Amino acid sequence: VTQSPQSPTAADALENSAFLRAARGESVPHTPVWFMRQAGRSLPEYRAIRAGTTMLESCMRPDLVVEITLQPVRRYGVDAAIFFSDIVLPLKAVGVDLEIQPGVGPVVASPVRSLEDLDPVRPVTPADVTYITESVQELVSRLGGTPLIGFAGAPFTVASYLVEGGPSKDHAKTKALMHGDPKLWHALADRLADVAIAYLSVQIEAGASAIQLFDSWAGALSPRDYAEFVQPHSAKVFDALAQYGVPRLHFGVNTGELLGLMSAAGADVVGVDWRVPLDEAVRRITADGTPAKPVQGNLDPALLFAGWDAIEPEIDRILAEGKAAPGHIFNLGHGVPPSTDPEVLHQVVRAVHEKSKHG
Ligand code: CP3
Repeated sequence: VTQSPQSPTAADALENSAFLRAARGESVPHTPVWFMRQAGRSLPEYRAIRAGTTMLESCMRPDLVVEITLQPVRRYGVDAAIFFSDIVLPLKAVGVDLEIQPGVGPVVASPVRSLEDLDPVRPVTPADVTYITESVQELVSRLGGTPLIGFAGAPFTVASYLVEGGPSKDHAKTKALMHGDPKLWHALADRLADVAIAYLSVQIEAGASAIQLFDSWAGALSPRDYAEFVQPHSAKVFDALAQYGVPRLHFGVNTGELLGLMSAAGADVVGVDWRVPLDEAVRRITADGTPAKPVQGNLDPALLFAGWDAIEPEIDRILAEGKAAPGHIFNLGHGVPPSTDPEVLHQVVRAVHEKSKHG
């Protein structure tokens, strides 16, 4: 369905979409569902269209961004689209020397070791990323009543790539810098907060209906380290975006011990991985006396390979536990694995919609 962004019908449908209603904690016709990394290698149509173009080149081509973002919406009937881009794109856009290696992830040529290394790390201006504005506007018009989620990497997770030089299991160099040179750490994280604010503002001003701040690797940190070294910088991002009034989602893997702190950073919706049941997540978010807020999650992506007889009761359990929150957006506990059978994801969408109807 193609509608102009100005069409009152599309604007109404969008405003009343299950995803935005759930994100605001309002009643829903069914539990909305989307999948982190729903666009990507699990889809044959994605592999076909990406052939011969690098990941970062693809992110700079509106024709590809629009088509790849729409592919999972068309195929699965998910309740939201997520903008096709990457957390390192805003750094690439200002000239930081990095690439995304297939099967590996972001690799940075000159890892950050000193204050001078921060010079190239600056926030994008809209002029740096006209292809982002163009892609978002086209998507909003094509998506009609389906919300588009914009996203950025949170300061810690992006810093980890800049400090480690690539993916890391233990984030040892990042932690060493944090504790060994707190002044440099805070300068880096503050700069990356500005990077995220600028990148998210471009997406929201072009029409994104919600944003997700990915702090994928924050679960590597103790609550004490998170509170001191990370939370203030993520809070800066959320505070700066409050003016737009769009729902702000926040997610990281293995963040069971951090859910309260990540929520308090300023998230409107707290993403939860599969390790913590959603009702327990609500208890952790409200433990400091703050009111409950909507949650997102949390089917273990590994179960997508376990067969429907294993998946279905998990969906029932997650929908039941999600009722403890004022809003529930169904998702995986992390991204779609590249070898996932798309038919299984389609079955999950249909089951979530069917099982949660009227309730
Ligand atoms: O569908 C979607 O969710 C939208 C697209 C999206 C991508 N990256 C596209 C992508 C999103 C939301 C991201 C965010 C991202 N990028 C995160 C946070 C989310 C998470 O998974 O925790 C992180 C940590 C990155 C960094 C990154 N970029 C990694 C770890 C990888 C995977 C490396 C690999 O090849 O396995 C990338 C590359 C990347 N980003 C791909 C896609 C579709 C794969 C590249 C390809 O298809 O060749």
